[in-house]
Amino acid sequence: MRLGGAASVGLVGLEATIVEVEVAVVSGLPRTVIVGLPDAALNEARERCRAAIAQVGLPWPAQLVTVNLSPATLPKAGSHYDLAIVSALLSAMEEVPPGRLAQSVLLGELALDGRVRPVRGLLPAVLAAAREGYGHVIVPADQVGEARLVEDVEVVGVSCLAELVGVLRGAAPVVYEAEGRTPPPEVRSVDMADVAGQLEARWAVEVAAAGGHHLFLKGPPGVGKTLLAERLPGLLPELGQAEALEVSAIRSVCGLGLDGLVSVPPFSAPHHSASVAALVGGGSRMAMPGAVSLAHHGVLFLYKVR
Ligand SMILES: Nc1ncnc2c1ncn2[C@@H]1O[C@H](COP(=O)(O)OP(=O)(O)OP(=O)(O)O)[C@@H](O)[C@H]1O
Ligand SMILES: [Mg+2]
Repeated sequence: MRLGGAASVGLVGLEATIVEVEVAVVSGLPRTVIVGLPDAALNEARERCRAAIAQVGLPWPAQLVTVNLSPATLPKAGSHYDLAIVSALLSAMEEVPPGRLAQSVLLGELALDGRVRPVRGLLPAVLAAAREGYGHVIVPADQVGEARLVEDVEVVGVSCLAELVGVLRGAAPVVYEAEGRTPPPEVRSVDMADVAGQLEARWAVEVAAAGGHHLFLKGPPGVGKTLLAERLPGLLPELGQAEALEVSAIRSVCGLGLDGLVSVPPFSAPHHSASVAALVGGGSRMAMPGAVSLAHHGVLFLYKVR
């Protein structure tokens, strides 16, 4: 029997846990099984990994391959385990040495032609890796900028499986700059100066911002309620480092792009006909945050049409 291992991260909502991926190759009828409560997307990892491995000219063992995801009781969802599964298998086959794998967390989805695709929830996953003391993370090249938001961890970007194999064999990684990822300029596009008059309502908005109070605006259509509410985040102080990481992590789980740490309080204005799921979020396993979570540390604007 040959054994290999690698580490990845399991996400339940925003909670991230290190998941150990173990691969055993034993003699038996050639097939591949994934155990450890995988969902459908994860179960299909074996087809993606098999095709990608063929693309780099390496063989898939004609034996019984068991992929175990530990802790076995934690339900796993998503496609970001592909890189860890393929690396653990290559380690079991002695195609790559286990040395570098032992200190790395791998995150990324494989395309059939071996390209590495971006994944949802990368930021909370890299935060978990850093918290658990892993010194290296290997992530999709497109998401290097997002991973680098976390300090104290070395980020290596890979754009295809061939590059990953090279890195694991000790080659110098390709350097990916987070292109166009300069932190967004701190211009607040909306400003209280746009509001003409409405002195009482303005005062109420300022009191709400200063004290962190709820605010109820009532008035005829077109009187400026939305205009005023949109300007509330601009009156709030900038997010601190910890708050910025939380807000950015929620955006990451939603699959919204991150150009840098979100430093301005968010404004979330769901449509008045939005469903309960759109408001509070949900979904099984890899839950999707809703409008309420997207307003975390910022402003949730709910409006009612009569
Ligand atoms: N006090 C104001 N100063 C400057 N522009 C204003 C003011 N009030 C309204 N406007 C203009 O009218 C537009 C409509 O205002 P807004 O959407 O805020 O109204 P509302 O009270 O939210 O209406 P509704 O009840 O239909 O949602 C604004 O985009 C803005 O251009
Ligand atoms: Mg309005």
